[in-house]
Amino acid sequence: MTDKPLTPDERLKQEFNRWADEGEGEKMERHHLDITEKTMRLIAVRPGERVLDLGCGSGWATRLLARMVGEGPEGFGQVVGVDVSDEMIRQARETSKDFENILYVWGSAQQIPWEENYFDKVLSVESFYYYADQERALTELFRVMAPRGRLFILINLYKDNVYSLQWVDKLKVPVHVRSEAEYIELLKKHAFENVEARRIPDDTPTPDDYKTKSFHSLDDLKAFKRMGALLLMASKPDLRTPAPGYSIY
Ligand SMILES: C[S@@+](CC[C@H](N)C(=O)[O-])C[C@H]1O[C@@H](n2cnc3c(N)ncnc32)[C@H](O)[C@@H]1O
Repeated sequence: MTDKPLTPDERLKQEFNRWADEGEGEKMERHHLDITEKTMRLIAVRPGERVLDLGCGSGWATRLLARMVGEGPEGFGQVVGVDVSDEMIRQARETSKDFENILYVWGSAQQIPWEENYFDKVLSVESFYYYADQERALTELFRVMAPRGRLFILINLYKDNVYSLQWVDKLKVPVHVRSEAEYIELLKKHAFENVEARRIPDDTPTPDDYKTKSFHSLDDLKAFKRMGALLLMASKPDLRTPAPGYSIY
């Protein structure tokens, strides 16, 4: 009897469970902290807001967001972390026991396990290019975002940063490689407004003895960091979903 082939989400779950088992969840904090902190300044999360961290991994960014929405007298905000890897979710829950305003949910961007018109802000760090069907993920994001909600997608792998293309072949799951212009087009096609892109350089110092398996050389890694990640920003229009033409999965 032949094994049934894995669905794209099952494959992602398997691969990222392996990452979690190898301690990559925590290591990613070091790799993504600088660009995520710069992004958080632009998100300007306010106390009381409802925030989604999509592809939350081990939850370090979710916890940073939870502190921001929980501050002060209006601080009854809530952060939801969603990830396709149940092992990442397990680790995130384990390390977030002190937080009363975080909920981690195992699920996929392809069918976000949450209600319509809910989130004021969405952050997704280094995750969007893995989604098997990015168009469906955008439809789902549009659905769960509140009217005038703001979307922030931060990715290190995109066509315009040629250095990032060096690691595509090293990944064990398929990824999308689109350009900034293509992503902007895609967001507009999905009815998002105020669509903008920015480059977020990574200013973390690279030690001279740093060993990289992902880049051909240390100079390429430094050039990759200088060129920076792509931050996509967009708003949901001031309307409640379902809007005409939008399917709910
Ligand atoms: C490179 S890691 C980044 C994790 C975290 N955002 C961070 O910066 O540490 C990518 C994450 O996206 C998650 N992911 C991949 N595909 C997904 C999908 N379809 N739905 C939800 N999460 C997904 C993976 O399980 C993994 O935890």
